[in-house]
Amino acid sequence: MLNDLAAQGRQEHLPGPVQQAAQTEDHLFTFTTENGTRLLLHVLSDKILRFRYLTPDSPAAPDFSYAVPGPDEAHPLRPQAPTFLEFKEKTDHYRITTARLICIVWKDSLRTRVLDRSGNLLGGDEKGFHWHHDYDTGNDIVKMSQQVPSGVCYYGLGDKPANMNLRGQRFCNWGSDTYGYVKGSDPLYKNIPFFHVLQQRIAHGIFFDNTFKAFFDFAAERADVTSFWAEGGEMNYYFIYGPSLLEVTQEYTRLTCPPPLPPLWTLGYHQCKWSYFPASNVQAIASGLRERRIPCDAIYLDIDYMDGYRCFTWHPQHFPEPKRMVQELAADGFKTVVIIDPGIKIDPAYPVYQEGIKNDFFCRRADGPLMKGSVWPGQCNFPDYTRPEVREWWAGLFEGLIKDVGVKGVWNDMNEPAVFEKGTFPDDVRFGYDGQPTSHRKAHNIYGMQMARATNDGVARFSYPDRPFTITRSTYAGGQRYSSGWTGDNIASWDHLWLANIQCQRLSISGFSFIGSDIGGFIDTPNGELYSRWIALGAFHPFFRTHSSGDHGDQEPWSFGEPFTSLVRHFIELRYQLLPYVYTTFWQYSTQGTPMLRPLTFLDQNDPETYLRMAEFSLGDHLLVCPITQAGADGRWMYLPKGDWYYYWTDEARAGGAEVWASADLTRIPLFVKAGAVVPMQPVMQYVGEQVVEELTLHVYYKNGTAQSVHYDDGGEGYAYQEGQQTTRRFTVTGDAQALTIRQEIAGAYQPSYATYRVVLHGLPTAPQAVLADAQPVPLGEYPATETTVAAPAAVVSVGFGEVKIEFAAPVAEGLAKS
Ligand code: GLC
Repeated sequence: MLNDLAAQGRQEHLPGPVQQAAQTEDHLFTFTTENGTRLLLHVLSDKILRFRYLTPDSPAAPDFSYAVPGPDEAHPLRPQAPTFLEFKEKTDHYRITTARLICIVWKDSLRTRVLDRSGNLLGGDEKGFHWHHDYDTGNDIVKMSQQVPSGVCYYGLGDKPANMNLRGQRFCNWGSDTYGYVKGSDPLYKNIPFFHVLQQRIAHGIFFDNTFKAFFDFAAERADVTSFWAEGGEMNYYFIYGPSLLEVTQEYTRLTCPPPLPPLWTLGYHQCKWSYFPASNVQAIASGLRERRIPCDAIYLDIDYMDGYRCFTWHPQHFPEPKRMVQELAADGFKTVVIIDPGIKIDPAYPVYQEGIKNDFFCRRADGPLMKGSVWPGQCNFPDYTRPEVREWWAGLFEGLIKDVGVKGVWNDMNEPAVFEKGTFPDDVRFGYDGQPTSHRKAHNIYGMQMARATNDGVARFSYPDRPFTITRSTYAGGQRYSSGWTGDNIASWDHLWLANIQCQRLSISGFSFIGSDIGGFIDTPNGELYSRWIALGAFHPFFRTHSSGDHGDQEPWSFGEPFTSLVRHFIELRYQLLPYVYTTFWQYSTQGTPMLRPLTFLDQNDPETYLRMAEFSLGDHLLVCPITQAGADGRWMYLPKGDWYYYWTDEARAGGAEVWASADLTRIPLFVKAGAVVPMQPVMQYVGEQVVEELTLHVYYKNGTAQSVHYDDGGEGYAYQEGQQTTRRFTVTGDAQALTIRQEIAGAYQPSYATYRVVLHGLPTAPQAVLADAQPVPLGEYPATETTVAAPAAVVSVGFGEVKIEFAAPVAEGLAKS
């Protein structure tokens, strides 16, 4: 079996020469080597190739994945079968060609190489697939090593608190409870084995769908080799072609399935602390927000709402009438979200424990005893969420919280799983793993994801006809289908504000866009300046929540006094105004897999200036943000991608492809809007649905040329949108020296509450003279200046308009402009 003498000492095995190659199914090719290694190469689409290697001794395990939904599961964006597929045998290799890719399998070694149809080399094996046997576990450690051409950059991999470009670093995926992590800590909570490779301006992705403890070495050990391996399971990876980085994320997200739309309120502001109790304190926080006119949609109950930390109970003294409290909060626009951990207190008098024991739903050790570990309630047992019947039971447990009490969302924590004794479960703990019983070594990395899945099923069932909301700390690839997330127990420091920015971008490009950080920091207390800067960044993160560990002091929007309370209010108000834009961006994520947060490199991978910068990112198509992460700063240098931009606060035009100084005292965050953009905004309100939106504001940014924008709307709640009650409004903006026109194409049956748009015109090259809506003159008015933004011309038009034309006062003649 050993065919590489040099490797013998390390007991390393290589596949050796190919003996047989055949097309075994429609889109599947099987290569068998002399020593019995097999490569099943599955062409999922023109852009996605799956490489699944089976070692000689391993019987093919059932083809099962928690990340990629199976053929029976609902999956609206499943990859489309290849439109072109050709298989050829050449002298020294086999060649598989799709409409976009060429894959070469070398006969002498089973190594592979992938090129695009123009012949650009995208990826090539170094040693390729190899493995060694681990005596202690009996598993094969499966490895892949690939060549690293010069200049290559790597991105993605979930929540890693490291520089955006992963090159030169090594990481591990083994979800861990990492209280007070710092830059460079690894692993953290989430396990997303997917990364991007950018080489010669062409991007592809690698998704290593293996749930065992896995490692990724991006040219760290050897500068010319990138490798990834896992302590068991199969070498099973997907090669995902872009060619743009954005498309790589889209393809990966579609493969693992994006989430459905959340209720709109979940994109509002959330207030959380460990812990708000008793009920009177929760009420006081809620009234504190309303009295100070600080918009907020959700208020959280951390572990102290429970009776002795028993999940699905209420503390009899602190929360004697939970239903009444939740109703009162709801009357004031607050949605109540409660924490639920996996540890079930060992207490014979506790019904959830009794049911778990009676039905044998808890995890067991290899020799039979129940898995016992300490978490907040003391000694606990833990549900095995990898068994469908346990998930079903767990989902059913939410009836009381959701249906009876009226809780609107559930927050899953400690689900790495975390225990106090040794961090997590011992390796021998057994799991059902949906019909393929296994140990903790294989199930660890999907425990949190399966818990969130069961939770979300329950929340969805009992919230119907409303949409569910779940948040999780741990997850695996594909977990975005079930839950939002946060980046865990960070610290109130400027370094952590920087990290929050990087981590949220990274998660977003890793398919997990519904993400935010504990604003202000979980551990320690920020000062007013840090907190306001963090709120300003959080206003551009999909999940927007302040959370802190209570023993370090208060962290409510008003805790730092003036001017900070007003600053915080100002950014939360801006978020509420931007909700139509944020929701549209979520819809793009949900329907196309497009990441909501896009790092600078993703905005222009043809511009190498973007490769090593990481603070700048866009939220959606048009807003470029760059947080201030330094105390005492009144602005910062940042890079604008090529194209024309406007500074949001002043409407000042700036040319991209250059570094610019963004002046930003505490009332501003560096924020630029792309020329040609149409940004829909709504009035400030204290919570989603507080007011009926009677007029939507369309902020239109002049461009000399043409640009597209979209606005999606469906009312933001319920499921009618899946039956056609939704509207997409596509805007085409075209500007020249004489005029600016905005064309609108409307599709869909949803009738919004607003009948008019206030079209606000930014960056016009000269004063507008007339506005015509579908050829009818419309009065020209002014959109007033605010404390932080400038006045701009505006006109009110009907939402049904086909074309709005703004004619300029003095046409700039060609010759004149030049003289
Ligand atoms: C964990 C969570 C934190 C939560 C705390 C108490 O540390 O990460 O968000 O507040 O547990 O439940």
